Amino acid sequence: MSGGTQGRTAASITARAADASGSGAVHAQPPALLEVENLVQRYRLPRERLFGAAPELVALDGVSLRIEPGRSLGVVGESGSGKSTLARAVMALERPSAGTVRFLGQDLNALSAAQLRRARRDFQMVFQDPYGSLDPRQKVLRIVAEPLDVLGAEAGDVRARVLEALESVGLRAADLDRYPHEFSGGQRQRIAIARALVTRPRLIVADEPVSALDVSVQAQVLNLLQELQRQHGLSYLLISHDLAVVDHVCDEVLVLRKGRIVEQGSPERLFGDARHPYTRALLDAVPGAFPGRRRGTRARAGAMESKPARP
Ligand SMILES: Nc1ncnc2c1ncn2[C@@H]1O[C@H](COP(=O)(O)OP(=O)(O)OP(=O)(O)O)[C@@H](O)[C@H]1O
Ligand SMILES: [Mg+2]
Repeated sequence: MSGGTQGRTAASITARAADASGSGAVHAQPPALLEVENLVQRYRLPRERLFGAAPELVALDGVSLRIEPGRSLGVVGESGSGKSTLARAVMALERPSAGTVRFLGQDLNALSAAQLRRARRDFQMVFQDPYGSLDPRQKVLRIVAEPLDVLGAEAGDVRARVLEALESVGLRAADLDRYPHEFSGGQRQRIAIARALVTRPRLIVADEPVSALDVSVQAQVLNLLQELQRQHGLSYLLISHDLAVVDHVCDEVLVLRKGRIVEQGSPERLFGDARHPYTRALLDAVPGAFPGRRRGTRARAGAMESKPARP
């Protein structure tokens, strides 16, 4: 994770130094992979009384964040804090009430539907529920190939690309012709990850990707996400109600509460020195895995690495 990042940091420092030299040359900073500014999402709720005003719920209230290429950001918060709303806004599945979402400098909400479809090859999503998110009537080949449809001929040999994605998540050619119900929960989530990988994206937004899985399988899937990040220089926006999950994969964590960011920092800092009482309450909710809460869970995951790759 860190090697490439150091390289980029050095490059951006060089660019700044050149600017400061007074040469007058403009060295534009490369745009962030993802930049969210002042995102607000309001939902209108059903009227309580026939002639009363429809009440409004503010699900996101001025959220800003930035992800540099190859880095990963975790978002944690209790149920209803706005995590999935943020994921939908970042994926441009929903138009925000205010604020902007820029991917590589491009304002996603300014794109036409066709442009957005093409842009989506670079950012894909993995959902919480590997049962509900895979079409039970389709075979794995078709399910994983689906995001390639928009690329047309550019996708090349679809079967080969699907196989490459499947193999990178620990599945194999024989799985191409099977249906989702023939797989375990962990394997289904691997299929969902393969589907997200098949377009070779730069960013994967994963909304509670392991919370529907058995605890024994969770660490294997998190290890896989980490491994894919290392291999492909991927970035994640990883959403979880569980700080331990994001600690595993992310360089930086945002703590969301009632649609606002209440704390932000490295996982190490949050585990060692959470400042906001809400973050401390979230840490307290993590079942007994963190004696003294001085460290994260990377050790816990490491202890499970010897398990077979096909949960
Ligand atoms: N389409 C919608 N219409 C009305 N209210 C909504 C809508 N989507 C979300 N909300 C509300 O916005 C708030 C944030 O919801 P969101 O699903 O983003 O929370 P979350 O952090 O993902 O929660 P969970 O951990 O339970 O998944 C909640 O109060 C929710 O009821
Ligand atoms: Mg949610």
